[in-house]
Amino acid sequence: MHLSIVTGSSRGLGLALTEQLLQRGHRVLAIARGETVARVPTGGELIAWRADLADPVPVAERLQQWLAGQPQPTTATLLNNAGVVSTPGPLADGDLAELSTAVRVGLESALLLTAAFLRASSAWTVPRKVVLVSSGLGRRAMAGSASYCAAKAGMDHLARTVALEEAARPHGARIVSLAPGIIDTDMQVQLRTADRSRFPERDRFLGFKTAGQLDSPALAATKLLRYLDRDDFGSNPVGDVRDA
Ligand SMILES: NC(=O)c1ccc[n+]([C@@H]2O[C@H](COP(=O)([O-])OP(=O)(O)OC[C@H]3O[C@@H](n4cnc5c(N)ncnc54)[C@H](OP(=O)(O)O)[C@@H]3O)[C@@H](O)[C@H]2O)c1
Repeated sequence: MHLSIVTGSSRGLGLALTEQLLQRGHRVLAIARGETVARVPTGGELIAWRADLADPVPVAERLQQWLAGQPQPTTATLLNNAGVVSTPGPLADGDLAELSTAVRVGLESALLLTAAFLRASSAWTVPRKVVLVSSGLGRRAMAGSASYCAAKAGMDHLARTVALEEAARPHGARIVSLAPGIIDTDMQVQLRTADRSRFPERDRFLGFKTAGQLDSPALAATKLLRYLDRDDFGSNPVGDVRDA
């Protein structure tokens, strides 16, 4: 049995990943606040938790406990996909609670769930992989999006650090902070409908849509899973699905 854990599974890229992993016959633990509604083909298994990753400690504890009760699977993969864009605009004008949520969901939850996953599966001898769904914006700063850029840049360095730690362990896990391309989801709607006076790059996001440059969530999920399947997955802890 292949075990995959997907956060942010209720819509967008996370839902498409969940559906495609189920089609591959995986047992998928899907985590989001909303309901994860996916077709479960024969051979696949969906376990859906409704949880708020803005309060990540109890979710990470629950994951650790749950994994500790699982038999060793054939492979184990954690896809930290949940992410939030706070209202686009300068950091100085941002709502403090909203900024906190963006960083908690976007970075803290990924760090804690990764810790729980690595700890609970440390005795497993099967291939273990972790993906941190990052963004080009973790590598290129964009005004009006400080919490998002900071969370994504944090993911890159988190992956570099954990890769060093796991390389020193027998059967260590492989980890990549992976930019998934530009995807036609709610997150893009939020960026291209933002207040132009507070978010100078709004028109660039409008342009992506009108020029047909957005991947569908299904195509983006296929590209991400293709990257996950690469033999050299983890050889570089910071990657992009658009890498050759
Ligand atoms: N779309 C793009 O162009 C693009 C580009 C680069 C990177 N990415 C990254 O790709 C990932 C997926 O993005 P997307 O475009 O699919 O976003 P999306 O359509 O906005 O979906 C976000 C997902 O995260 C979940 N989520 C948000 N807040 C949560 C919370 N407090 N607790 C638990 N789950 C929460 C949502 O579920 P609930 O609301 O049900 O909780 C939803 O399933 C994100 O990490 C994003 O940063 C996207």
